[in-house]
Amino acid sequence: MAKKLIGDPINRIDGKEKVTGVARYSADIKRLDLVHGVLVMSTIAHGRIRQIDASATMNVPGVVGVMSHENAPKIGGMEKNKNSAQATDRVLHVFQDDQVHYNNQPIAMVLAETFEAATEGADRMRIIYDVEPLKPELPANIDKAVKPERLPREDDQVDTQRGDMKAGMGEATVHFNETYRTPTQIHNALEPHALVSYWEGDKLTMYSATQAVSSTQKRVAELFGIPRDNVRVICQYIGGGFGSKGTVFSQNMLGPLAAKFIKRPVKLVLKREHMFGMVGSRSATVQRFSLGAKADGQFTAMGHHSIVQTDDFDDFAEPAGVISRMLYAVPNQETTHKFIRANIGLTSPMRAPGEAPGVFVLECAIDEMATLLKVDPLALRLKNYAETDPHRNLPFSSKSLKACYERGAGQFGWAKRNAEPRSMRDGNHLIGMGMATTVYPVNRGESSAKVQLNADGTVRVETATQDLGTGTFTILTQLVAEVFDISPDLVTLAAGDTRYPEAVGSGGSRTTVTTGSAVVQVAKEVLTKAKKMALNDTKSPLYATPESEIMIEKGRLYRKSDPRKGELLSSLLKRNGGKALEEMQESKAGAEKNKYSMYGFGTIFAEVRVDEALGEVRVSRLLSVVSAGKIVNEKTARSQMLGGMIWGLSMALHEDTLRDPRTGRIMNPNLAEYHVPVNADIKEIDNIFIAEEDETVNPAGVKGIGEMGVVGSVSAIVNAIYHATGKRHRDLPVTPDKLLV
Ligand code: MOS
Repeated sequence: MAKKLIGDPINRIDGKEKVTGVARYSADIKRLDLVHGVLVMSTIAHGRIRQIDASATMNVPGVVGVMSHENAPKIGGMEKNKNSAQATDRVLHVFQDDQVHYNNQPIAMVLAETFEAATEGADRMRIIYDVEPLKPELPANIDKAVKPERLPREDDQVDTQRGDMKAGMGEATVHFNETYRTPTQIHNALEPHALVSYWEGDKLTMYSATQAVSSTQKRVAELFGIPRDNVRVICQYIGGGFGSKGTVFSQNMLGPLAAKFIKRPVKLVLKREHMFGMVGSRSATVQRFSLGAKADGQFTAMGHHSIVQTDDFDDFAEPAGVISRMLYAVPNQETTHKFIRANIGLTSPMRAPGEAPGVFVLECAIDEMATLLKVDPLALRLKNYAETDPHRNLPFSSKSLKACYERGAGQFGWAKRNAEPRSMRDGNHLIGMGMATTVYPVNRGESSAKVQLNADGTVRVETATQDLGTGTFTILTQLVAEVFDISPDLVTLAAGDTRYPEAVGSGGSRTTVTTGSAVVQVAKEVLTKAKKMALNDTKSPLYATPESEIMIEKGRLYRKSDPRKGELLSSLLKRNGGKALEEMQESKAGAEKNKYSMYGFGTIFAEVRVDEALGEVRVSRLLSVVSAGKIVNEKTARSQMLGGMIWGLSMALHEDTLRDPRTGRIMNPNLAEYHVPVNADIKEIDNIFIAEEDETVNPAGVKGIGEMGVVGSVSAIVNAIYHATGKRHRDLPVTPDKLLV
């Protein structure tokens, strides 16, 4: 069996259900006697609820109840609802007190026989507040920044230092020191957060749109103070999450709480507007970056100091500086993180949390340094190429970045770029070409899986994982099919439900790395069992063959030295009583984690066309070339890359969350005024994978790609705008008003 480093681009196994409308998303779940819940959100950003008047609401025909802090059932595990610096376990607002910490905080829920009645009832709620002074946003409060206790990932230090920063800067002949800003971003998944919850005695079932069925089960049980097994979470389909469904946010408690309150099943679907606050956001940042280089381009010192904005009640600190520690071979370095608190909705991971805003700064700064040094930006990156991880002092498990640069530059036509800014023009349009490095760590968590090889040659796999929309269900069947070298059609996957073995949450590009490895590991165990069965079976052509001598091809075991000697797995199992062979195991990183530094690497090239009279930027070409271990399915992987790059374009040019500084109120909580790209914004866009064999990284040989697309695209586009116009933009998004100044 030949090793395939770039796997077949097969269609999604759930593609037909999705396009024919058969797929039932969480909001599609029906239940007898269902009540519809609609949330009422705070209109102030800081203060207390003095009075709730629901009389007009209760007069709306069909309204059956209003739940607020005045009457909501008390939650048994409320002591667990406290500050957490991790991405998971966030502080939730679940009607247990009268405090308001941000605009658009859920403060009541109207329950009605129809969605329309609940909506009208919610509109008729009258709330009186006692308003308290606002904690303002960046940069007003920048002097209040403090060092967080930790960053979300335990292994990431808050501050780092290596070498001697001062001496390093002293050695430099060219110095660079600038400050960049990025805004609050809202995930805006296409599918709104939705769940249907019902209790049967003290047992809770939730059909919930979540990136993490297993950890939702754990957290919801913990907060209710009930045994974990009493909670079942099901999620068969998700319409995007990007971090906003990665952890338990308030709605995942408010749904079941309302079901308890009204003693009926409750369907709760967030409105678009409700998604601006309670379900997370990417932190605004102010980042100061300094870089020193010798005349030949060698970096001598680098400083990356991030101030990130977080909410008033939790401790999530966007890890913006972590990639600067490892991407280039720079001997002297200082990176720090501080945060400030403001009366804003929850900050949280959002597609490449830390890496996206941090690498925007790093990769723009390197472009700026290339300008100062008058060298090609790609040549400058090669000059400072890190052959080993300079932060952890470890070899990389694999790194094919040079091949990516080379392929990308060739494909994109980088050599045709005239280095001089404003030198390329087409009629009214200034043309610019920019590039950047992209990178993302391999985050392997823990997942369990059960694999069952049946006597008819089919395989059943069980694991609780959800499919975030990336194609997880499809590629897990592919990975298992490869172990037995059979068609993926012969593999059935049972997933998206906590009744199956626990699996990691789909965040941090973790799923293929973690759950993919789990299914491969367990499938290989089952295959080993089959080999042992054959070599112990006197009736098998493989009787007494050493296990290491037994190979598999197309579901048939055979002897390596004599391939004619062998038999189908199905024949073997049928002769041995017809029972299935099965195995269940937990799978997680081992010693390799401390011996190697593991990242996916790549590069993004961007071409922009700028109309200076209109301040309009069009990204005419976007190309990524990435290496990320084995690519399981070229089609779904490509979708991930293109989607991520469109995210990068969106961060560079469009997205901004506007709050009124006087009231803390969100001014654009809708897709009319919060801009994301549409089809017309995307021109030529392409991705190339560089095949990479990495046997160390994990059993599946894969690195995550969900976040690689966004990381480098932002800076590639902003660098291209500089090349087109000769004007540097250090404040995202680069909107027309900024281009016209
Ligand atoms: Mo993500 S932000 O790791 O869902």
